[in-house]
Amino acid sequence: MTRALRTGTDCAAWRELQSLAGQLLSTPTRRLFEQDAQRFAHCCAQGAGLALDYSRQRVDVRVVDSLVALADQLELRERAAAMFAGEPINTTEGRAVLHTALRRPGGTPLLVAGQDVDAQMMAERERMLDFAERVRSGAIRSSAGRPFNLVVSIGIGGSDLGPAMAVQALRPFCADTPRVAFVSNVDGNELSDLLREADAARTLFIICSKTFTTLETLTNARTARAWVLERLGAAALPAHFAAVSVNTRAMDEFGVHPEYRFTMWDWVGGRYSIWSAIGVSLAIAIGRTHFEAFLAGGRELDEHFRTAAWRENLPALMGLLAVWNIDLLGLPTLAVLPYDSRLARLPAYLQQLQMESNGKHVKLDGSPTTLPTCAVIWGEPGDNAQHSFFQLLHQGTQRAALDLLLPINSSSGNQPQQNLAIASCLAQAEAFALGHSAAEVREELARSKLPEARIEALIPHKVHEGSRPVSLLLFEQLDPRTLGRLIALYEHAVFVQSVVWGNNAFDQWGVELGKQLCERFIPFVEKPTTAGGQSGSLQGALQFVQRWRHG
Ligand code: F6P
Repeated sequence: MTRALRTGTDCAAWRELQSLAGQLLSTPTRRLFEQDAQRFAHCCAQGAGLALDYSRQRVDVRVVDSLVALADQLELRERAAAMFAGEPINTTEGRAVLHTALRRPGGTPLLVAGQDVDAQMMAERERMLDFAERVRSGAIRSSAGRPFNLVVSIGIGGSDLGPAMAVQALRPFCADTPRVAFVSNVDGNELSDLLREADAARTLFIICSKTFTTLETLTNARTARAWVLERLGAAALPAHFAAVSVNTRAMDEFGVHPEYRFTMWDWVGGRYSIWSAIGVSLAIAIGRTHFEAFLAGGRELDEHFRTAAWRENLPALMGLLAVWNIDLLGLPTLAVLPYDSRLARLPAYLQQLQMESNGKHVKLDGSPTTLPTCAVIWGEPGDNAQHSFFQLLHQGTQRAALDLLLPINSSSGNQPQQNLAIASCLAQAEAFALGHSAAEVREELARSKLPEARIEALIPHKVHEGSRPVSLLLFEQLDPRTLGRLIALYEHAVFVQSVVWGNNAFDQWGVELGKQLCERFIPFVEKPTTAGGQSGSLQGALQFVQRWRHG
């Protein structure tokens, strides 16, 4: 029987936080710095090779104390232990949540529903890594006996975003290997663009789908199969398709050769699956050694999350600060802003990780959540963002919390340019937090030759209010180990938030309705005249389909 679990609002610490929120909202961040000369030391935590500077968040010692008390009152340590131990905390699907197990070295029992699956999990990792190495080296060849020069990973959501983000992030570790490309959307355009340049005799497709029922993935996979069939013939097909899924029968039906298929696990959700065989495209791109470093990075962060005191615990702090920003300060969005353009897909990856996990309206017991859950996540590499939407963040009326990710060393050996990125990031962090007061603007303009009246007219336009909450996440360099740490950091921060809100971070019922409707609408799109009885809007749109469709 499910034990009734406390949520944030059931805790005494929550009332403390509510009373502090009013005070902090009326305290500019500048004043927080004036009040505490040691603010940076008090608000910077370090662990697993990462540093989290939250000194520019709208918190003081009392808020941090209350957030830590909240974690204790929620028994966060025990809740995390239950996850690591494989308890079925994904209650609506009756599943354990063991993505953390995929980063373990193996050799210790891994109990899922009373069964030790460690050997099975390790054997599959070995098989996947061996396959990846042999594709890289050219030992696995195409039907024409040629090494592959293009690997196309076909998947969507959790079966795409992680590897796609990571391959881009780790480009410098991909030398001399087949190019790895990703196809996800159902419209077929990504695949078409890719295949226009591809040589069928040197192209390997990997179909990644936990369920092997996803419309987008199967449609693209069938298009790819038809493309190979047309160019190389039926006998060539098995050499050109690999797959990752829990659905062995569907892989069979698609004709995937048993040696080229890899299993994943019910106890790992799609958006947490990059650590599994879903990472095969990443392993092909960066190779075994770097993939193992990636896993090791995730593992280090797991250890940190399990053992560090909450005040030093990066994922706990990040998760608790997110709750503070969303629920107590009323900030409904979080912008993720990396200062390494190789992390351009990180915001998209984190959108699924966070919003599919915690975008929920009910608690574990099915009752409505009493708090807003999960920020809207968005973002872009920081410099692009500066020259695009930072205006709104500095001076607009909408507010967002900000995560700035800052590697200290260049990931392409161009340190002078990375130094500029560092300066740019720090400049924005300061500007967001401290702003630019009317007095400072006046003083600045006074040095110009402008008439007094003009100066006074300009001042309101140039004031930056500041007090935008910023977390600065610093790390040495973007490499496989660090990327593993970063992903695991956000994963655990998501878990922490779900504990406060009391929702299930590991199901995703909200994606089903659209999928069902899409299946129903396919015939209407094919033959719009059959849509009688549907909503006026649907029929109206279908009339345009009929009128404007060329073929
Ligand atoms: O539509 C959302 C979703 O169910 C995700 O949770 C999942 O990562 C994605 O679709 C892909 O699913 P599959 O791996 O089964 O193709």
